[in-house]
Amino acid sequence: MSAVINSPMPPTRVNASDAPILIDPFGRTVSYLRISVTDRCDLRCIYCMSDDMQFAPREQMLSLEEIVRIGSAFVDLGVKKIRITGGEPLIRKNVLHVFEHLGALPGLDELTLTTNATQLSRYATRLRDAGVNRINISLDSLRPARFRHITRVGNLHQVLEGIEAAQAAGFDKIKLNAVILKHKNHDEVIDLVEYAHSNAFDISFIEEMPLGIVNEHDRLCSYYSSDEILRDLRQHFDLSASTANTGGPSRYYRIHDSETRVGFISPHSHNFCGDCNRVRLTAEGRLLLCLGQENSVDLRQIVRGQTDSPEELSQAIRESMALKPKGHAFDMTVQPVLFRHMNKTGG
Ligand code: GTP
Ligand code: 5AD
Ligand code: SF4
Repeated sequence: MSAVINSPMPPTRVNASDAPILIDPFGRTVSYLRISVTDRCDLRCIYCMSDDMQFAPREQMLSLEEIVRIGSAFVDLGVKKIRITGGEPLIRKNVLHVFEHLGALPGLDELTLTTNATQLSRYATRLRDAGVNRINISLDSLRPARFRHITRVGNLHQVLEGIEAAQAAGFDKIKLNAVILKHKNHDEVIDLVEYAHSNAFDISFIEEMPLGIVNEHDRLCSYYSSDEILRDLRQHFDLSASTANTGGPSRYYRIHDSETRVGFISPHSHNFCGDCNRVRLTAEGRLLLCLGQENSVDLRQIVRGQTDSPEELSQAIRESMALKPKGHAFDMTVQPVLFRHMNKTGG
């Protein structure tokens, strides 16, 4: 760990009784925080970014200590699961600091990571040692040229090596995430499930969400629904609906005689907002109450403020619950719905 980073104060448990504290106006308890540690990425996926992305100036990003302080405050308020996302989280310098400190919090049940796997060869073991339980890996194609096209710059070989390193590190579970686009990779869903199955991974298929302007394709024309994917898969696999719930938005199916679960994240065709249990912290310290709405609170201003008291931060987080909307406002027929790209949003 870098010498320039000071250790945070030990966490003070406010939530000794474990009774839910963060409850929104619709009665939903928030127990899951997704933290984007950077908006930067070493890939440029066509559904995530435009080809001329502007990234936040470094001084506007939360420091690693600020991230740990805010994450700890959420755990004190009853959050049980934290997922680190980006951009690509593993390209942030000294990012292990965040995993090591959050992973040591006694109140946290699960520390998880969403990554594109390009850096996993160097990081997998250290992440496991820092207390990361599960990893979700974005993988949209197993064909090198197609992978390059979808990511604009990616090298499939490097990613598959990263996935092997994660397997060797012994995480509780590895899940693949594939965003499926018609005429880009919709014909690969069976191959992707076979790859997941042969490695005992879970896999989730995601419907593309209209976040930020992307110039490579028309999102409405590229829409391929979860139901179409399920229909395609059923021609090859014996799939039965499962009640499994990881606390995320996937609806799972199980492949007969296998550990592999096939999930569907279907914001358009099967809205899951009613069960929402999560909020997001952007790399710039904005607390987003919903992926698909702009309701937010600036937590950076609080942690950088004159008083910078843990009570003020805790109160701001509690009060933010009043702003959590009932659901997203995605509409594929209107372009664009939100100007915020996924890399800024935290996956
Ligand atoms: P686990 O259930 O813990 O495995 O994770 P997860 O599915 O919550 O996390 P992951 O990073 O794998 O999320 C995959 C994708 O699901 C994200 O990149 C988003 O595209 C989508 N997603 C996650 N949470 C939400 C949400 O609250 N709303 C919407 N619309 N999409 C979400
Ligand atoms: N719609 C749906 N999922 C997206 N992701 C990135 N952009 C989008 C989008 N517009 C997914 C990636 C990855 C996670 C971080 O976010 O595929 O799994
Ligand atoms: Fe990077 Fe993930 Fe966005 Fe792809 S989807 S450009 S890997 S942040």
